[in-house]
This record gives sequence, structure tokens and C-alpha cells, in this order.
Amino acid sequence: MSGFGKECADIVRAARPDTYKVGMILGSGLGSLADEIEDAVRIPYSRLEHFPVSSVSAHASELIAGTLQGVPVIVLSGRAHYYESGNPSIMRTPLETLKDLGCEILVATNAAGSLREDIPPGNPMLINDHINYSGKNPLIGEEDEKRFTGMSEAYDAELRDQLKVAAGEVAEDLPEGVYAWMSGPSFETPAEIRMLKGFGVDAVGMSTVPEVIMARFLDMRVAAISTITNMGAGMQANDLSHDETKEMAPLGAAKIKKILRQFLKNMA
Ligand code: HPA
Repeated sequence: MSGFGKECADIVRAARPDTYKVGMILGSGLGSLADEIEDAVRIPYSRLEHFPVSSVSAHASELIAGTLQGVPVIVLSGRAHYYESGNPSIMRTPLETLKDLGCEILVATNAAGSLREDIPPGNPMLINDHINYSGKNPLIGEEDEKRFTGMSEAYDAELRDQLKVAAGEVAEDLPEGVYAWMSGPSFETPAEIRMLKGFGVDAVGMSTVPEVIMARFLDMRVAAISTITNMGAGMQANDLSHDETKEMAPLGAAKIKKILRQFLKNMA
């Protein structure tokens, strides 16, 4: 089984030929990083067959090809989430496209709720492992043996080190932790958050994990960073809302952008 990555990659190559190195998925609040891309070609997802247009406000839906800090990058501004369609492999074609364009590295970003008092809203968290609490898997239905994808080192240790070094160089803290994928779109209950805490979870969100599984299946090296927008349900006075996510995401995102710029500069 395969998606339409080759066809989509051909469209991108025709618009801007290059050997791309890093693919990035920009979640809530990080879209503006795409504005910094030099020599940029922007292609709306609607022109790329099987690219899912996200219905979530604060998510654009375009692919941007260009260079960032001297590194040829493909940026996916906006992702589709499992909860929009019920399809966990909804990001298959976009990821195949990155791979076909030469991206060996995927950097995924998202907005997440924190379960750690020492990582309050407005801060980034580097994901070092995940728990797929949704029980869904984007590789269900794959037919060859590759579907038994190893996930022991899903979040590449060397990339994590490089991100930590970059964070140090721009004087930002970058705590690490475990991210749990809950399907959403409703937020968690306080009881679910207490359970996740007991499971060793540090942050919770509704995305990224299916993309990481798919990217590992495609043999990409993966790094992922959350922008913490709120404390988990029951850990803060007010109930959770998408408005809060949208309002808070840019705070941590500004720090993540600084770190990513330095990370790419060091790679160039
Ligand atoms: N839970 C799930 N997804 C989220 C949260 C949360 O608390 N915050 C931002 N995305």
C-alpha cells in the first residue's frame, strides 16, 4: 500500500528543484516560521492530491519549499489530525512526499497540555518518547513486514542532543518528556490526566504520534517539540478550550522557533 507521495513530490520538484534535507510539520502557533523561509515556493495542499486540508482554525494548509538558515527544507504548515476524519494515516501522503523529496529528518511540532508543574504554559518540551493511548495506528492495513516498525528509538537521540545544544546556544531551557496521544477532539478529564501522570506522561496532545509512527515506517529520523499551552485538565483553575490553545501557543512557539533556527544553522 502506498499513497501519492511520488506524484506530489514531482509537483514540488517542478516548482522548486533542490535536494531537501529536513521536513517540518508546524503545529499551532508555529505557522509563522514558514514566513522566514528564503527563496520560498508555496503550494496549497489543494493542489497536492491526497494532502488533507485541516479544518482546525490556526492551521494553514500549504507546503513551503525553500531554505531556512541555509538548509533546504520542506515545511508543512498545518496538519490534519486523526480526530478530523477518524483516519490515523491521514498524513501518509504528506510524509511520503517529504521522504521522496530527500528529507531524511522530520521535525514535528505541536501544542500540548503539561502534566508537569515545572513545565508551565509558554514553554517548549522536547519529546523523548510517547505513549499511544489512542490505540489507533497508521500502519494498520499495511501488508509487508515493514509494518512491524520498531519504536524503541523513535525520537532520534542524536537529533535530541543537537536540539539541546541549539537551545543552550540561544539560552532557552528545553526540558524533555514523554508525550501521550489522546484522540481528542474533546479534552481529557481530570481522572484521565491523573492516570496519565501515573503512567509517566509529561505532556498530552491530539497529534504527532501517528506522524512519528509513519515517519519511522518510512525510515526518517524524527525529532518533535511541543509548545505547552495549558496545564492538563484538573491542574488549572479554568476548563480547557481551543481559544486558550490558540492564545498560548505562540509563547512557547517563539522559543521553539529560536531553537529550530539555531539547530538548522548548526546543520548547514
Ligand atoms: N490536551 C490535549 N491536547 C491539547 C492540550 C491538552 O491539554 N493542550 C493543547 N492541546
